[in-house]
Amino acid sequence: MNDAQMHALAERHGTPLHLLDLDRIRARFGALRAAFPDAEFRYAVKANPSTALLALVAASGAGAETITEGELARAVRAGIPGERLLIGGPGQGPELRRRARDAGAALASLDSEDQWRAWRGDGPGRTRFLIRVNPGFDPGTHPHLATGAADSKFGLPPGRAAALAAEVAADGVLDGFHVHAGSMLADASTHPRILDLLAPLFDRFDGARTVDLGGGFAPDADLAPFAAAVLPFVRSRGLRLILEPGRWPTADAGRLLTRVLARKEGATVHWICDAGMAQLARPALYGAEHPIRVVPVPGRPPAPVARGEVQGPLCENADRLGRDRTLAAGVGDLLEVGQVGAYGTSMESNYASSLRPAEVTIEHGAPHLARRAETVDDLWRHDVGPD
Ligand SMILES: Cc1ncc(COP(=O)(O)O)c(C=O)c1O
Repeated sequence: MNDAQMHALAERHGTPLHLLDLDRIRARFGALRAAFPDAEFRYAVKANPSTALLALVAASGAGAETITEGELARAVRAGIPGERLLIGGPGQGPELRRRARDAGAALASLDSEDQWRAWRGDGPGRTRFLIRVNPGFDPGTHPHLATGAADSKFGLPPGRAAALAAEVAADGVLDGFHVHAGSMLADASTHPRILDLLAPLFDRFDGARTVDLGGGFAPDADLAPFAAAVLPFVRSRGLRLILEPGRWPTADAGRLLTRVLARKEGATVHWICDAGMAQLARPALYGAEHPIRVVPVPGRPPAPVARGEVQGPLCENADRLGRDRTLAAGVGDLLEVGQVGAYGTSMESNYASSLRPAEVTIEHGAPHLARRAETVDDLWRHDVGPD
């Protein structure tokens, strides 16, 4: 997508505007398959629930990892069949379980003993189970993303995982073990540690034939060392490998276009934009830094270069897009915020009655309006009353 096309789309659909490059996502899934030829992929829908993206996942033969009723409904609607559905997450309430049963979801990852009792109480179904193991180490990522840390709410320590596996195996529905150690992993040394921990569990439970290593690859992570760590383990034991990537295939396929509403000069410049934490929560939530650049207008001289903060329009200090940036941005300029394909639209909110922007997908080079922008009427669509 070149600068002129971005300007044209911003004019046509307004800003803020999400762009999602499906060609890029298709290529990234191809790279995943090439790196892990033995793996089955269960795309983590939480990264980006775009309907067009899920349709692409369905057509590619991959499946989906879903943690809410809404995600599961989206995956089913996109045509992902039950045998490629995996239910995850520490909650898994009755609506999610009922919908999973109706969809014939092949797998669920059990995060606690109570979760197993709830599934068991529902009566027999098609679903088989993985036990989520808490590996008990921080993979060195942001604390919010370190789901493998011993004090995190996720999974069970190996001893308890084994006890639960014995119960599930006694019912004949144990399929394997699952670890998702964290997100934004760039260092493959996490995976041998995880496999060392899982080996005794697979030694003990003959019926366990699936190892699910979650997702977590940082967008710029080299997959080769991860594959080198994982594939010998899987092949030597004849296991089925499942991976649940969310961020890796999607992050760099998404862009957010936003316009500068004000440039406040001072000790530091504040560029106030029409997008912020309601459209992209990651900077506020994780201190994430996204690439930001001015989309130049040919023939128009750039604004003076300054150093400062790229801010959102809301009344929160956390409402910002980028810190300490050097930009030649002035009022009316269009900014491109990069790497928003993962955990961008999926974390949007209506905070301060902000409106969710339109989304344009790009496929075979051509743009397509995939989601219209919300209007103020959408804000009270679900209200009841006042009469
Ligand atoms: C269980 C599980 N699987 C997969 C993912 C996807 O992770 P990522 O988007 O970093 O690949 C997550 C993210 O939170 C997760 O919790």
